[in-house]
Amino acid sequence: MKNLTELHYFEVPTVMKHGLGAVNYLPEELASLGVKRPMVVTDQGVLKAGIINQVLKPLQEAEVFYILYDEVVYNPPLETVAAGTKKYLENNCDGLVAVGGGSPMDAAKAIGVEIAQGEPVLEYECADGKKPLTKRIPPLVCIPTTAGTGSEVTLWAVITDPARHYKFNVGGPLIAAHLALIDPLLHLSMPSWVTAGTGMDALCHAIECYTCAYAQPQTDAVALLSIEYAGKYLRRAVAYGQDVDARYYMAMSSMLAGLSYGAASAGAVHAMTQTMGGIFPVHHGLAVAATLGPVMEYNWMGEPAKYARIAQALGVNIHGMSERDAALAAVLEVKKLTEDVGIPTLTEMGLTVEDIPRLAQEAFNDPQTIGNPRDIDVKGYEKIYRRCFG
Ligand SMILES: [Fe+2]
Repeated sequence: MKNLTELHYFEVPTVMKHGLGAVNYLPEELASLGVKRPMVVTDQGVLKAGIINQVLKPLQEAEVFYILYDEVVYNPPLETVAAGTKKYLENNCDGLVAVGGGSPMDAAKAIGVEIAQGEPVLEYECADGKKPLTKRIPPLVCIPTTAGTGSEVTLWAVITDPARHYKFNVGGPLIAAHLALIDPLLHLSMPSWVTAGTGMDALCHAIECYTCAYAQPQTDAVALLSIEYAGKYLRRAVAYGQDVDARYYMAMSSMLAGLSYGAASAGAVHAMTQTMGGIFPVHHGLAVAATLGPVMEYNWMGEPAKYARIAQALGVNIHGMSERDAALAAVLEVKKLTEDVGIPTLTEMGLTVEDIPRLAQEAFNDPQTIGNPRDIDVKGYEKIYRRCFG
């Protein structure tokens, strides 16, 4: 563990409830949180896939009044948050239910910040010169429909500032959901490419948090099991969407990775992909998956023992291997998994080698560079990006 002289903290304000059909308990969970007029925050994808009906049905049956805000867009910008805040206030809502992947959950958290603080969420960006959160958000239930971001248990929301082409973080214990209600049955209809991208994002959260400078025993413990579940179940979930066991354990992998991410930071992959996502409309999970292998190739020598343990968690028999060989086996395993689940390249996502200098500079400027297990500068990021383009 690095930085032993610092005071570390691990706080999880979120209650986690999970199981097949968990969503049917939503009315009583809202009642126990004292919520009578929830605003359900979601996006058009969840709406069109019909998944939202599985969440709204129990509310309708229990005659719970609710408002639906279904205009969250991918990588939610400030306007999406502001429009949600307006709708919440106009309808005198008293709580939030986020249904979806990272975008609706992060948007709901940010709406919660605006409601609690009475100011635009941009004022509370995690950056020098900005204000710390001082008030708890209204009761928030997060119901993830993908297994990847772990936002249902993290202390973070990622919001896009279109003016700066930048995705910023806002966070701390006051922004966390009150309840994560995890129902793997909502994941059965997830398309295989979304399963692949979001699952690789979960794996990446676990790997980056396990090896970053802020790692601590609590985050290590949950990260390792998250890696193990992703190694065992992601291929199955991608191959056969109706595999309930695989869906359940990927949902758990994502949640455990979220716990490891929740109290700390990530590393180079997230420095690269969050900044990339502010500039290009890439899918976060797919971008993460396309960059994870090359970053691990660069990073392994910063934490060789932990990389060897990652290999073991991914099912590699490291008995008799040198630490170096075991660490490199982790890199190879992740690359194999990336290939097996069919992740497109950055070129296929519309990026070109000409973008590398800008992308490398932006990644270096991102605060998540600081926790990376191997020292990295702009040249280091350029090298990794060149590997991503093959
Ligand atoms: Fe991520």
